[in-house]
Amino acid sequence: MAFLSNPIGKKMLMALTGIVLFLFLVAHLLGNTTVFGGQGWINAYAEHIHSAMFAPPLWAARVVLLACLGLHIALGTLLFLENTKAAPTKGTFVTYKEAGLSSRTMFYTGLLILAYLIYHLLHFTFHSVHASISVSAFPPDAQGRPDLFRSIALSFQRPVIAGTYLLAMAVVCLHTFHGVFSSLQTLGLPGKASLPVLKRAGQVLATLLAAGFALVPVAVLTGWINL
Ligand code: HEM
Repeated sequence: MAFLSNPIGKKMLMALTGIVLFLFLVAHLLGNTTVFGGQGWINAYAEHIHSAMFAPPLWAARVVLLACLGLHIALGTLLFLENTKAAPTKGTFVTYKEAGLSSRTMFYTGLLILAYLIYHLLHFTFHSVHASISVSAFPPDAQGRPDLFRSIALSFQRPVIAGTYLLAMAVVCLHTFHGVFSSLQTLGLPGKASLPVLKRAGQVLATLLAAGFALVPVAVLTGWINL
């Protein structure tokens, strides 16, 4: 617990939980790419991850993710409050003055991502928003699987839903633009000499991640993915 009362300990835990959340996003993005294989691919993928065989690892991953998300939010809020109270010269984030938009807005972009996540889970996991175009509103596909492809296509054919997701992906990009670099730096992975390289690599990864997610609504809006 002494670990948590020191700012470096908090930042280390923020970094570790941030990396776990980022790795989840990479895995999620890889799963999403099955939508480009068409209805059969994504429906088969979704059926597999919800099958009895995958239930234990899926639930274990969900517990770890939820713990990481909770810690990341709690510590991020604490660090933000401490940093706001501290005089600029005593600030935890010593690089603040040279910080860019991404690092200065981490707390706010984090809050926006949390709001998006709640909306996203209500949409695709709990089917309680946009219920008329959720998986549970459609008959199964020809192979008897829940028709996730239809739900995704019909969702992003609505410009308001597609636009909301695209805005959210811009925020995810802004948050991870600094987050990936900051996490690796906090964990002391690079030597001092390679900091600029690490920073650029973090920015490239963040952009690729967000662009990968954004490709799905864009593909539906442009008719590349259709029913
Ligand atoms: C265009 C971008 C995205 C699309 C199309 C998408 C699609 C989906 C779909 C279809 C599901 C439900 C899968 C199922 O239960 O069969 C899902 C679950 C989920 N998504 Fe996304 N997603 C996107 C971006 C994101 C982002 C950026 C985040 C995080 C900030 C995120 C976090 C989650 C989480 C936490 C779940 C629940 C996973 C679980 O059930 O254990 N998604 N997503």
